[in-house]
Amino acid sequence: MSCILITGGFGYIGSHTATILSENNKKFVIVDNFSNCKREIVDRLKMCTNDNVAHYECDIRDTKSLVKIIKENKVTSVIHFAALKSVADSIINPLEYYEVNVNGTISLLKAMKTTGVKKFLFSSTAAVYGEPDFCPIDENHKLKPLNPYAQTKIIIENILKDIVKSEINWSIVCLRYFNPIGSHKSGLIGDDPLMAKNSNLMPEIIKVVRGYKNHLDVFGDDYGTPDGTGIRDYIHIMDLSEAHVKALDFIDKNNGINFFNIGTGKGVSVLQLKTAFEKVSGFNLPIKISKRREGDCAICYANPKKANEILKWNSKYDLSQMCQSAWIFVEKNSK
Ligand code: NAD
Ligand code: WQD
Repeated sequence: MSCILITGGFGYIGSHTATILSENNKKFVIVDNFSNCKREIVDRLKMCTNDNVAHYECDIRDTKSLVKIIKENKVTSVIHFAALKSVADSIINPLEYYEVNVNGTISLLKAMKTTGVKKFLFSSTAAVYGEPDFCPIDENHKLKPLNPYAQTKIIIENILKDIVKSEINWSIVCLRYFNPIGSHKSGLIGDDPLMAKNSNLMPEIIKVVRGYKNHLDVFGDDYGTPDGTGIRDYIHIMDLSEAHVKALDFIDKNNGINFFNIGTGKGVSVLQLKTAFEKVSGFNLPIKISKRREGDCAICYANPKKANEILKWNSKYDLSQMCQSAWIFVEKNSK
């Protein structure tokens, strides 16, 4: 039976993807260094997957250990989530981002080369497009990184292009995720990072609900959008996770390298998300309009047609369902 190595499998996207892989009877083994997840995630993920969570505490920069793990588990493909992901933090600490994201990926690829594993699914991001020239953004849109985080993802994509040229039989897919939100239906796992470095919109909303903040700062209401606030492509975490199962099927049948946007194709403003969340939670979210956040663009949403047609993947959940599932995680985990 084939076995998938999941790096960063105890993080937000990795853990949700693990539940879907388990539902699809796929065998996997997780490698994580616990730098951005709580220890309790191990037991929680076991509850969501019928105990099916083989794992190692290991840093992806430790090539020797990765080789051992790959051999021990007869790994046949890799899904690579492990990375540092805060845009703001990457501007302050660029070297850490190049070290973990780029060097970490090189270490992992070396371990794969040593063991002859050539199937690779990589977590890329919509941040590679920077300030979009047009929306919906398709995969041929120019890559314009605005920060070190996005830069690391482009460097890795370029390394992967070179690998495919250098050796036969590599099969690589890069999924460029838009804005995942929500949680697993059990409410046992969700977006629950250790580092308080991320200030994405839904986690910020949840900080207000939990009383860690008095209000939500809305970064700018003077954009050229219908209500003046920024528009993004929010996607349910379970839809995003499902895309990995489809991408693995594709990797099994196709060599070379391919890039896919993973978004719904629908733009939603900050105020629309706030209202949708209030509706499902019954919670009134106080807001303050503050100035635009540096580096933010007005509008960013995907053209997901390539993933729809080639991967046979489609998003299923609407905005209300995304907010509902984010709310379930808050309710089930409020002390
Ligand atoms: P996350 O921080 O929740 O998960 C990453 C996991 O990797 C964590 O469990 C962390 O402990 C682990 N990790 C970090 N460095 C490691 C290392 N050196 N060795 C081993 N494990 C390590 O992040 P996420 O939101 O699940 O994101 C997963 C991937 O998707 C990342 O590559 C990220 O850049 C990408 N991505 C995320 C988003 C998003 O909005 N969440 C959007 C686009 C792309
Ligand atoms: C969304 C909208 C903000 C917080 C980033 C990365 C991207 C991906 C997802 C990793 C914007 C507004 C936010 C707040 C607000 N991650 N906002 N008040 O910036 O689209 O994307 O995270 O790869 O690569 O770039 O997501 O959730 O931070 O912001 O008004 O407190 O919410 O201005 O319009 P973003 P976000």
